[in-house]
Amino acid sequence: MTASVRAGALPRASAQAPANIAFIKYWGTRDSEATLPYNPSISMTLSHCVSRCTIERLGGGPGEVLFRPPGSVLAPAAPGFAEGVRRHLSALASWAGVEGPFRVATENTFPTGAGIASSASGFAALAAAFCGLVDRQVTPRELSVLARASGSGSAARSAFGGYVEWPEGEGKEEGYAVCLAAEGHWEIHDLVAVVDDSPKGVSSRQGHEAALSSPYFQPRLELLAERLAVVRRAIERRSLADLGPVIEEEAIDLHLIAMSSRPAIFYWRPATLAVLAAVRDLRAEGTAVWATIDAGPNVHLICESAEVERVAAAVGSMPEVSRLIRDRVGAGPCPLEEHLI
Ligand code: DP6
Repeated sequence: MTASVRAGALPRASAQAPANIAFIKYWGTRDSEATLPYNPSISMTLSHCVSRCTIERLGGGPGEVLFRPPGSVLAPAAPGFAEGVRRHLSALASWAGVEGPFRVATENTFPTGAGIASSASGFAALAAAFCGLVDRQVTPRELSVLARASGSGSAARSAFGGYVEWPEGEGKEEGYAVCLAAEGHWEIHDLVAVVDDSPKGVSSRQGHEAALSSPYFQPRLELLAERLAVVRRAIERRSLADLGPVIEEEAIDLHLIAMSSRPAIFYWRPATLAVLAAVRDLRAEGTAVWATIDAGPNVHLICESAEVERVAAAVGSMPEVSRLIRDRVGAGPCPLEEHLI
Protein backbone atom coordinates (compact mmCIF):
# COMPACT_ATOMS: atom_id res chain seq x y z
CA MET A 1 0.00 0.00 0.00
CA THR A 2 1.42 3.38 -0.85
CA ALA A 3 0.14 6.86 -0.18
CA SER A 4 -1.21 8.81 -3.14
CA VAL A 5 0.03 12.39 -3.37
CA ARG A 6 -2.02 14.92 -5.33
CA ALA A 7 -0.14 17.91 -6.75
CA GLY A 8 0.18 20.49 -4.00
CA ALA A 9 -1.76 18.30 -1.56
CA LEU A 10 -0.85 16.22 1.44
CA PRO A 11 -0.48 12.44 1.27
CA ARG A 12 -3.50 10.24 1.85
CA ALA A 13 -4.21 6.53 1.67
CA SER A 14 -7.28 4.33 1.84
CA ALA A 15 -7.99 0.75 2.79
CA GLN A 16 -10.86 -1.64 3.37
CA ALA A 17 -11.10 -4.24 6.12
CA PRO A 18 -13.74 -6.87 6.88
CA ALA A 19 -15.88 -7.45 9.95
CA ASN A 20 -15.83 -10.91 11.45
CA ILE A 21 -18.25 -13.12 13.35
CA ALA A 22 -16.86 -15.08 16.29
CA PHE A 23 -17.58 -18.81 16.55
CA ILE A 24 -15.64 -19.03 19.84
CA LYS A 25 -16.11 -15.70 21.60
CA TYR A 26 -13.62 -13.31 23.13
CA TRP A 27 -15.38 -12.28 26.35
CA GLY A 28 -13.25 -11.10 29.25
CA THR A 29 -9.99 -9.11 29.07
CA ARG A 30 -6.95 -10.49 30.93
CA ASP A 31 -4.84 -7.37 30.31
CA SER A 32 -6.87 -4.33 29.37
CA GLU A 33 -3.85 -2.13 28.68
CA ALA A 34 -2.40 -4.55 26.12
CA THR A 35 -5.87 -5.86 25.11
CA LEU A 36 -5.19 -9.52 25.75
CA PRO A 37 -8.04 -11.98 26.27
CA TYR A 38 -8.66 -14.71 28.83
CA ASN A 39 -9.27 -17.25 26.10
CA PRO A 40 -8.47 -17.92 22.44
CA SER A 41 -11.24 -16.99 20.01
CA ILE A 42 -12.06 -18.20 16.49
CA SER A 43 -13.97 -16.27 13.86
CA MET A 44 -15.05 -16.21 10.26
CA THR A 45 -14.15 -13.12 8.24
CA LEU A 46 -17.12 -11.56 6.42
CA SER A 47 -17.31 -10.43 2.83
CA HIS A 48 -20.15 -7.86 2.63
CA CYS A 49 -19.82 -6.23 6.06
CA VAL A 50 -16.70 -4.11 5.64
CA SER A 51 -15.31 -0.75 6.74
CA ARG A 52 -13.50 1.64 4.43
CA CYS A 53 -11.13 4.28 5.68
CA THR A 54 -9.16 7.17 4.21
CA ILE A 55 -6.49 8.92 6.19
CA GLU A 56 -4.81 12.16 5.25
CA ARG A 57 -1.90 13.89 6.90
CA LEU A 58 -2.64 17.56 7.56
CA GLY A 59 -0.10 20.39 7.64
CA GLY A 60 -1.52 21.79 10.88
CA GLY A 61 -4.71 22.37 12.79
CA PRO A 62 -6.65 20.15 15.16
CA GLY A 63 -7.22 17.04 13.01
CA GLU A 64 -10.63 15.64 12.12
CA VAL A 65 -12.59 12.38 12.33
CA LEU A 66 -15.45 11.96 9.87
CA PHE A 67 -17.96 9.16 9.52
CA ARG A 68 -20.45 8.28 6.80
CA PRO A 69 -23.44 6.18 7.92
CA PRO A 70 -24.82 3.86 5.16
CA GLY A 71 -26.69 5.90 2.54
CA SER A 72 -25.73 9.24 4.06
CA VAL A 73 -22.97 11.86 3.82
CA LEU A 74 -19.68 12.34 5.66
CA ALA A 75 -20.09 14.26 8.90
CA PRO A 76 -18.07 14.72 12.11
CA ALA A 77 -18.06 11.39 13.98
CA ALA A 78 -19.80 10.95 17.34
CA PRO A 79 -17.49 12.01 20.23
CA GLY A 80 -16.94 8.49 21.64
CA PHE A 81 -16.11 7.08 18.21
CA ALA A 82 -13.80 10.02 17.37
CA GLU A 83 -11.99 9.57 20.68
CA GLY A 84 -11.37 5.86 19.93
CA VAL A 85 -9.98 6.77 16.50
CA ARG A 86 -7.70 9.44 18.00
CA ARG A 87 -6.37 6.98 20.60
CA HIS A 88 -5.66 4.38 17.94
CA LEU A 89 -4.05 7.00 15.69
CA SER A 90 -1.70 8.09 18.43
CA ALA A 91 -0.58 4.45 18.97
CA LEU A 92 -0.09 4.04 15.19
CA ALA A 93 1.79 7.34 14.91
CA SER A 94 4.20 6.44 17.70
CA TRP A 95 4.78 3.00 16.11
CA ALA A 96 5.65 4.71 12.79
CA GLY A 97 7.55 7.59 14.40
CA VAL A 98 5.40 10.23 12.70
CA GLU A 99 3.27 13.06 13.97
CA GLY A 100 -0.20 14.27 13.07
CA PRO A 101 -2.53 15.99 12.75
CA PHE A 102 -4.56 13.65 10.55
CA ARG A 103 -7.95 13.75 8.91
CA VAL A 104 -9.72 10.40 8.96
CA ALA A 105 -12.91 9.42 7.16
CA THR A 106 -14.60 6.03 7.59
CA GLU A 107 -17.73 4.29 6.42
CA ASN A 108 -19.32 0.91 7.07
CA THR A 109 -21.54 -1.09 4.77
CA PHE A 110 -23.63 -2.21 7.77
CA PRO A 111 -25.15 -0.88 11.05
CA THR A 112 -22.54 0.45 13.46
CA GLY A 113 -22.17 -0.70 17.07
CA ALA A 114 -25.02 -3.21 16.88
CA GLY A 115 -23.03 -6.41 17.43
CA ILE A 116 -21.69 -6.78 13.89
CA ALA A 117 -18.06 -6.08 14.81
CA SER A 118 -17.94 -2.57 13.37
CA SER A 119 -15.02 -1.63 15.58
CA ALA A 120 -13.11 -4.72 14.43
CA SER A 121 -13.42 -3.78 10.76
CA GLY A 122 -13.16 -0.05 11.43
CA PHE A 123 -9.90 -0.26 13.38
CA ALA A 124 -8.38 -2.86 11.04
CA ALA A 125 -9.18 -0.51 8.13
CA LEU A 126 -7.66 2.44 10.00
CA ALA A 127 -4.46 0.47 10.70
CA ALA A 128 -4.25 -0.70 7.07
CA ALA A 129 -4.84 2.82 5.69
CA PHE A 130 -2.28 4.23 8.12
CA CYS A 131 0.37 1.73 6.89
CA GLY A 132 -0.36 2.95 3.35
CA LEU A 133 -0.03 6.57 4.42
CA VAL A 134 3.40 6.05 5.97
CA ASP A 135 4.50 3.64 3.20
CA ARG A 136 5.09 0.70 5.51
CA GLN A 137 4.59 -2.76 4.04
CA VAL A 138 3.29 -4.99 6.80
CA THR A 139 2.41 -8.68 6.96
CA PRO A 140 -1.14 -9.64 8.05
CA ARG A 141 0.39 -10.72 11.38
CA GLU A 142 1.90 -7.23 11.90
CA LEU A 143 -1.38 -5.66 10.83
CA SER A 144 -3.14 -7.84 13.41
CA VAL A 145 -0.95 -6.38 16.19
CA LEU A 146 -1.53 -2.85 14.89
CA ALA A 147 -5.30 -3.35 14.68
CA ARG A 148 -5.37 -4.73 18.24
CA ALA A 149 -3.55 -1.59 19.45
CA SER A 150 -6.94 0.12 19.04
CA GLY A 151 -8.20 -1.66 22.16
CA SER A 152 -10.67 -3.71 20.10
CA GLY A 153 -9.43 -7.28 20.46
CA SER A 154 -11.63 -8.67 17.70
CA ALA A 155 -9.87 -6.22 15.31
CA ALA A 156 -6.81 -8.51 15.57
CA ARG A 157 -8.85 -11.17 13.72
CA SER A 158 -9.97 -8.75 10.96
CA ALA A 159 -6.39 -8.65 9.61
CA PHE A 160 -6.98 -12.00 7.85
CA GLY A 161 -9.52 -13.50 5.49
CA GLY A 162 -11.20 -16.88 5.95
CA TYR A 163 -11.19 -18.63 9.32
CA VAL A 164 -9.07 -16.99 11.99
CA GLU A 165 -7.88 -17.78 15.51
CA TRP A 166 -6.63 -15.22 18.03
CA PRO A 167 -4.75 -17.09 20.79
CA GLU A 168 -4.52 -15.67 24.33
CA GLY A 169 -0.99 -14.31 23.62
CA GLU A 170 1.74 -13.89 26.20
CA GLY A 171 2.92 -10.32 25.82
CA LYS A 172 2.12 -7.29 23.68
CA GLU A 173 3.85 -8.56 20.55
CA GLU A 174 2.45 -12.09 20.77
CA GLY A 175 -1.08 -10.77 20.61
CA TYR A 176 -1.80 -11.48 16.97
CA ALA A 177 -4.25 -13.67 15.13
CA VAL A 178 -3.44 -16.50 12.73
CA CYS A 179 -5.30 -17.80 9.70
CA LEU A 180 -6.67 -21.34 10.17
CA ALA A 181 -7.99 -21.65 6.61
CA ALA A 182 -8.37 -19.26 3.68
CA GLU A 183 -11.79 -18.10 2.49
CA GLY A 184 -11.75 -20.53 -0.46
CA HIS A 185 -11.50 -23.53 1.89
CA TRP A 186 -15.21 -23.64 2.84
CA GLU A 187 -18.10 -21.44 1.80
CA ILE A 188 -20.17 -20.64 4.84
CA HIS A 189 -22.90 -18.04 4.83
CA ASP A 190 -23.86 -15.63 7.58
CA LEU A 191 -27.37 -14.18 7.26
CA VAL A 192 -27.59 -11.40 9.81
CA ALA A 193 -31.16 -11.04 11.08
CA VAL A 194 -31.25 -7.39 12.13
CA VAL A 195 -33.89 -6.89 14.82
CA ASP A 196 -32.54 -3.57 16.08
CA ASP A 197 -29.89 -1.51 14.35
CA SER A 198 -29.43 1.17 16.98
CA PRO A 199 -25.99 1.24 18.64
CA LYS A 200 -25.80 -0.93 21.75
CA GLY A 201 -26.19 0.75 25.14
CA VAL A 202 -23.35 -1.15 26.84
CA SER A 203 -19.99 -1.40 25.10
CA SER A 204 -18.08 -4.66 24.70
CA ARG A 205 -15.34 -3.06 26.84
CA GLN A 206 -17.79 -2.75 29.76
CA GLY A 207 -18.92 -6.32 29.08
CA HIS A 208 -15.32 -7.63 29.16
CA GLU A 209 -14.75 -5.91 32.50
CA ALA A 210 -17.99 -7.11 34.09
CA ALA A 211 -17.61 -10.69 32.78
CA LEU A 212 -15.34 -11.82 35.60
CA SER A 213 -18.04 -11.09 38.17
CA SER A 214 -20.34 -13.72 36.65
CA PRO A 215 -20.44 -17.11 38.41
CA TYR A 216 -20.48 -18.68 34.93
CA PHE A 217 -17.26 -17.04 33.70
CA GLN A 218 -14.86 -19.67 35.09
CA PRO A 219 -17.02 -22.72 34.24
CA ARG A 220 -17.15 -21.61 30.60
CA LEU A 221 -13.35 -21.23 30.47
CA GLU A 222 -13.09 -24.83 31.60
CA LEU A 223 -15.22 -25.97 28.64
CA LEU A 224 -13.19 -24.07 26.10
CA ALA A 225 -10.28 -26.42 25.35
CA GLU A 226 -12.79 -28.98 24.07
CA ARG A 227 -14.89 -26.39 22.19
CA LEU A 228 -11.83 -24.90 20.50
CA ALA A 229 -10.70 -28.36 19.39
CA VAL A 230 -14.15 -29.13 17.96
CA VAL A 231 -14.31 -25.84 16.04
CA ARG A 232 -10.77 -26.19 14.62
CA ARG A 233 -11.55 -29.73 13.50
CA ALA A 234 -14.97 -28.77 12.09
CA ILE A 235 -13.34 -26.05 9.98
CA GLU A 236 -10.62 -28.40 8.79
CA ARG A 237 -13.21 -31.04 7.79
CA ARG A 238 -15.84 -28.55 6.61
CA SER A 239 -18.39 -30.07 8.96
CA LEU A 240 -21.28 -27.74 9.81
CA ALA A 241 -22.92 -30.54 11.79
CA ASP A 242 -19.94 -30.42 14.18
CA LEU A 243 -19.51 -26.64 14.11
CA GLY A 244 -23.13 -25.59 14.57
CA PRO A 245 -23.96 -26.89 18.06
CA VAL A 246 -20.73 -25.45 19.52
CA ILE A 247 -21.20 -21.97 18.10
CA GLU A 248 -24.74 -21.84 19.48
CA GLU A 249 -23.53 -22.95 22.92
CA GLU A 250 -20.85 -20.26 22.81
CA ALA A 251 -23.33 -17.51 21.93
CA ILE A 252 -25.71 -18.55 24.70
CA ASP A 253 -22.84 -18.73 27.20
CA LEU A 254 -21.60 -15.24 26.29
CA HIS A 255 -25.06 -13.84 27.00
CA LEU A 256 -25.51 -16.01 30.10
CA ILE A 257 -22.29 -14.47 31.46
CA ALA A 258 -23.37 -10.95 30.43
CA MET A 259 -26.82 -11.34 32.03
CA SER A 260 -25.32 -12.71 35.25
CA SER A 261 -22.51 -10.13 35.51
CA ARG A 262 -22.59 -7.38 38.10
CA PRO A 263 -23.98 -5.09 36.79
CA ALA A 264 -26.15 -7.36 34.63
CA ILE A 265 -26.00 -6.67 30.89
CA PHE A 266 -28.91 -7.57 28.60
CA TYR A 267 -28.16 -7.30 24.88
CA TRP A 268 -31.11 -9.47 23.78
CA ARG A 269 -34.52 -8.15 22.79
CA PRO A 270 -37.72 -10.23 22.64
CA ALA A 271 -37.13 -10.35 18.86
CA THR A 272 -33.76 -12.03 19.47
CA LEU A 273 -35.55 -14.93 21.19
CA ALA A 274 -38.12 -15.09 18.38
CA VAL A 275 -35.31 -15.54 15.82
CA LEU A 276 -33.61 -18.19 17.99
CA ALA A 277 -36.93 -20.07 18.14
CA ALA A 278 -37.26 -19.85 14.33
CA VAL A 279 -33.76 -21.33 13.97
CA ARG A 280 -34.76 -24.28 16.18
CA ASP A 281 -37.95 -24.75 14.11
CA LEU A 282 -35.93 -24.72 10.88
CA ARG A 283 -33.61 -27.37 12.28
CA ALA A 284 -36.55 -29.49 13.42
CA GLU A 285 -37.72 -29.42 9.76
CA GLY A 286 -34.30 -30.61 8.60
CA THR A 287 -32.61 -27.31 7.64
CA ALA A 288 -28.98 -27.19 8.80
CA VAL A 289 -28.72 -23.69 10.30
CA TRP A 290 -27.25 -22.51 13.59
CA ALA A 291 -27.25 -19.15 15.33
CA THR A 292 -24.63 -17.01 16.94
CA ILE A 293 -24.91 -13.57 18.54
CA ASP A 294 -22.22 -11.01 19.42
CA ALA A 295 -22.63 -8.18 21.93
CA GLY A 296 -25.94 -6.97 20.54
CA PRO A 297 -29.49 -8.16 19.81
CA ASN A 298 -28.98 -9.23 16.18
CA VAL A 299 -28.73 -12.90 15.25
CA HIS A 300 -26.20 -14.34 12.81
CA LEU A 301 -27.59 -17.38 11.00
CA ILE A 302 -24.80 -19.70 9.93
CA CYS A 303 -25.45 -22.16 7.10
CA GLU A 304 -24.11 -23.53 3.83
CA SER A 305 -25.11 -22.46 0.29
CA ALA A 306 -27.81 -25.11 -0.14
CA GLU A 307 -29.79 -23.75 2.84
CA VAL A 308 -29.44 -20.00 2.24
CA GLU A 309 -32.71 -19.39 0.39
CA ARG A 310 -34.81 -21.48 2.79
CA VAL A 311 -33.33 -19.68 5.82
CA ALA A 312 -33.66 -16.26 4.18
CA ALA A 313 -37.32 -16.89 3.29
CA ALA A 314 -38.23 -18.14 6.79
CA VAL A 315 -36.37 -15.54 8.86
CA GLY A 316 -36.43 -12.60 6.44
CA SER A 317 -40.26 -12.63 6.49
CA MET A 318 -40.56 -12.50 10.30
CA PRO A 319 -42.21 -9.27 11.52
CA GLU A 320 -39.49 -8.99 14.19
CA VAL A 321 -36.73 -8.85 11.54
CA SER A 322 -36.29 -5.41 10.03
CA ARG A 323 -33.57 -6.45 7.58
CA LEU A 324 -31.59 -9.46 6.55
CA ILE A 325 -27.96 -8.85 5.63
CA ARG A 326 -26.67 -11.63 3.39
CA ASP A 327 -23.02 -12.25 4.02
CA ARG A 328 -20.52 -15.05 3.61
CA VAL A 329 -16.91 -15.87 4.34
CA GLY A 330 -14.59 -13.29 2.83
CA ALA A 331 -11.08 -11.99 2.24
CA GLY A 332 -8.82 -9.89 4.45
CA PRO A 333 -8.00 -6.17 4.23
CA CYS A 334 -6.88 -4.53 0.99
CA PRO A 335 -5.79 -1.08 -0.17
CA LEU A 336 -8.33 1.11 -2.00
CA GLU A 337 -7.60 3.39 -4.93
CA GLU A 338 -10.77 5.39 -4.34
CA HIS A 339 -10.65 7.78 -1.41
CA LEU A 340 -13.49 8.87 0.87
CA ILE A 341 -12.10 12.43 1.09
C1 DP6 B 1 -18.89 -10.27 21.62
O1 DP6 B 1 -13.62 -5.64 22.49
O2 DP6 B 1 -13.29 -6.70 20.23
O3 DP6 B 1 -17.89 -9.53 19.60
O4 DP6 B 1 -14.46 -3.30 20.42
O5 DP6 B 1 -16.93 -3.77 20.29
O6 DP6 B 1 -15.36 -4.75 18.59
P1 DP6 B 1 -15.54 -4.22 19.98
O7 DP6 B 1 -15.41 -5.49 20.81
P2 DP6 B 1 -14.20 -6.32 21.31
O8 DP6 B 1 -15.02 -7.59 21.80
C2 DP6 B 1 -15.69 -8.44 20.92
C3 DP6 B 1 -16.70 -9.18 21.66
C4 DP6 B 1 -17.60 -10.09 20.86
C5 DP6 B 1 -16.99 -11.48 20.68
C6 DP6 B 1 -15.91 -11.60 19.66
O9 DP6 B 1 -15.94 -10.94 18.61
O10 DP6 B 1 -15.03 -12.45 19.89
